[in-house]
Amino acid sequence: ADACFVHVVDRDTAEVVLMGATPDQFDALAGTIRLPMGEGISGWVAQHGRRAVVEDKWSDPRYRYIPELRGEEFSSLVSVPMLRPGAAVVGVLNVHAHDPRHFGPDTVTRLEEVASLVAGLVEGAVLHARLQRREADLEAFAVRTIELQELDRRRIAGDIHDGISQRLVSAWYHLRAAMAITVEPAVEEQLAVTAALLSEALEDSRRAITGLRPALLDDLGLSAAITSVAGSLGDVEVAVDLAECDLAPHVETALFRIAQETLQNVVKHADASRVEVTLAPDGDAVVLTVSDDGAGFDPSTAGGLTTFGLASMHERASLLGATLLVTSSPGEGTSIAVRVPADRTISEA
Ligand SMILES: Nc1ncnc2c1ncn2[C@@H]1O[C@H](COP(=O)(O)OP(=O)(O)OP(=O)(O)O)[C@@H](O)[C@H]1O
Ligand SMILES: [Mg+2]
Repeated sequence: ADACFVHVVDRDTAEVVLMGATPDQFDALAGTIRLPMGEGISGWVAQHGRRAVVEDKWSDPRYRYIPELRGEEFSSLVSVPMLRPGAAVVGVLNVHAHDPRHFGPDTVTRLEEVASLVAGLVEGAVLHARLQRREADLEAFAVRTIELQELDRRRIAGDIHDGISQRLVSAWYHLRAAMAITVEPAVEEQLAVTAALLSEALEDSRRAITGLRPALLDDLGLSAAITSVAGSLGDVEVAVDLAECDLAPHVETALFRIAQETLQNVVKHADASRVEVTLAPDGDAVVLTVSDDGAGFDPSTAGGLTTFGLASMHERASLLGATLLVTSSPGEGTSIAVRVPADRTISEA
């Protein structure tokens, strides 16, 4: 034979696509030549799943001339479907001859055998390409989700700061003014209670804002931001050992959030005397660990529909393609480890 073409069926667009050819002068055309199913001889073979043996293609009504494939140089061709047992046609294998030629039944049968052999490989390659595309889509989706979450949090922080907090502050001033002019002891007492409540509410909204906005992260970077959070824990002794790792922004955000929630849990639940925070490369991954020597708990029963901490940590980790391991039992302290595979620490975007 003088030229051989492999076309693959693209189910999404219902087309037959040139995938490879010999001689390799045609290789550059791979992926660019597309025929709708049913059109041209290849399209016909793909649609019907049957061979086409054509001695003189110019007199075959199915033939379509494609200049790039230099149809004028070839006279005869045989086109056979690549079939998978029980499945649809995967592609089409074409053999072209320069001079008019009769392809005998043996030759054609042999070709059909080769085509079926190749069919499995081609199907595998097509599936692989589709999987890769889907994986890239998922990765992009995760990055976008994390960015959107942060945007949302910034918006909410802004709303609290500019709305609720401002009103609380001015309510507090009016209250002070009222306290200054009242002479009624009972009223004075009530106003004092109200003032205390208001300043607690202000404190609450301040805390909510700091929790919502990782300004720390923007200003300081991951290590310094975690160090700063760890430094504000109060009674617990904190040991921090953070390696500078080159991480994509969305990975830093997720790790920061996980560290933040974990440390909050230590303060809220552990009654620990010491907590250790580390960030370090480990083999083909980057690992963040937070371990305390506190009360511990049973991870299989902890966290229900009303708590968000652990659940959102798991969600963040899985969005990253990371694994989150919580090791704890009552009386044994608690350790969490987030392992981000190296190929997930860099941004594709
Ligand atoms: N470091 C820890 N030491 C001891 N117990 C812990 C620790 N971390 C978590 N827990 C237990 O696991 C439970 C679930 O934690 P999670 O963070 O999901 O919820 P929460 O902290 O109670 O509430 P939220 O985080 O929604 O404000 C906690 O209520 C606590 O009992
Ligand atoms: Mg919590």
